[in-house]
Amino acid sequence: MLLAGTWQSTPEEVVQAVVCALKEGYRNIDCAWGYNNEKDVGEGIKQSDVPRSEIFITSKIASIQLFHISREESLLADRILVYLIHWPVALNPNGNHPAFPTLPNGLRDVVHDWKLSDTWKQMEALVEKKKVKAIGISNFSVKKMEEILPSAKIIPAVNQLELHPYNPQHELLAYLRSKGIVPEAYSPLGSTNSPLLKDEVVKKIAEKHGLQPSDVLLGWLVSHGIVALPKSVTPSRIASNLTGTVAAVGKLDKEDITQLDGLAASGKQKRFIMPPWPVALGFDNWTAPFPQPTS
Ligand SMILES: NC(=O)c1ccc[n+]([C@@H]2O[C@H](COP(=O)([O-])OP(=O)(O)OC[C@H]3O[C@@H](n4cnc5c(N)ncnc54)[C@H](OP(=O)(O)O)[C@@H]3O)[C@@H](O)[C@H]2O)c1
Repeated sequence: MLLAGTWQSTPEEVVQAVVCALKEGYRNIDCAWGYNNEKDVGEGIKQSDVPRSEIFITSKIASIQLFHISREESLLADRILVYLIHWPVALNPNGNHPAFPTLPNGLRDVVHDWKLSDTWKQMEALVEKKKVKAIGISNFSVKKMEEILPSAKIIPAVNQLELHPYNPQHELLAYLRSKGIVPEAYSPLGSTNSPLLKDEVVKKIAEKHGLQPSDVLLGWLVSHGIVALPKSVTPSRIASNLTGTVAAVGKLDKEDITQLDGLAASGKQKRFIMPPWPVALGFDNWTAPFPQPTS
């Protein structure tokens, strides 16, 4: 299954990409308050003429909204079906910037004693009030999931994570499966200017089957039961990412999958999306870039 990604695009690009994706057959669009594009996604849906009842929208509350979640006007009213916590970090709602407050020393202004389990309770209330159909999380490591799961009444439907052969997170995936949480792969192609598309192993597998490297990357994810979220503003790529994934799922053999599974462990481990949170999120291969708070 594929979701259409929409990050890092202009409003016009988002509208056109959503129209194109829906016409090509995508039915799940990913957006976020933090991308400032929920309205553009709504506009693309309107222009596409695809019946609203066929479309799923995934959006995400930003770290700063953890305190404002009861302000329901921040939601896309009846449009969002799946609502995620974007990052397991709470930013100061009274800080020096409406979205990314910082401290005088330049570090992001994080509220260190905020309990994620309280945010999850507020997310559950949105389901109870029928504001959204499903709730989930994003960028939650096992450590962060264990801060919400013991008291959760609703198990997160999905966990959206950076997943591709350079950052396969095998143990985290096994944990998600044991809890019945669906993994979703963001930056499935390795994000902008990705070295993954030029990787020799990926290219060889693509040549062997007459596929594009992008098809191999997306097919590998879907073969593992992972929902992939490729982003493109290019109509031909929006179309080929869908057809190419289907082709790749049919063609990738056990040997290809095993080779791709082992790429990171062969010395190519790499994350592409690492915002400078001043706190450790509990992921392997990602340490906080700044000193930890002393209190
Ligand atoms: N939850 C989170 O914290 C989080 C974080 C990051 C991203 N996301 C979501 O995940 C989506 C995807 O991640 P991403 O945008 O970082 O990266 P991505 O989908 O891995 O890569 C996007 C890049 O690949 C190019 N591309 C797309 N299809 C291609 C193809 N078939 N061949 C060659 N290049 C291709 C795109 O170019 P063109 O657009 O120019 O075609 C763009 O430069 C985002 O849009 C967003 O919705 C979520």
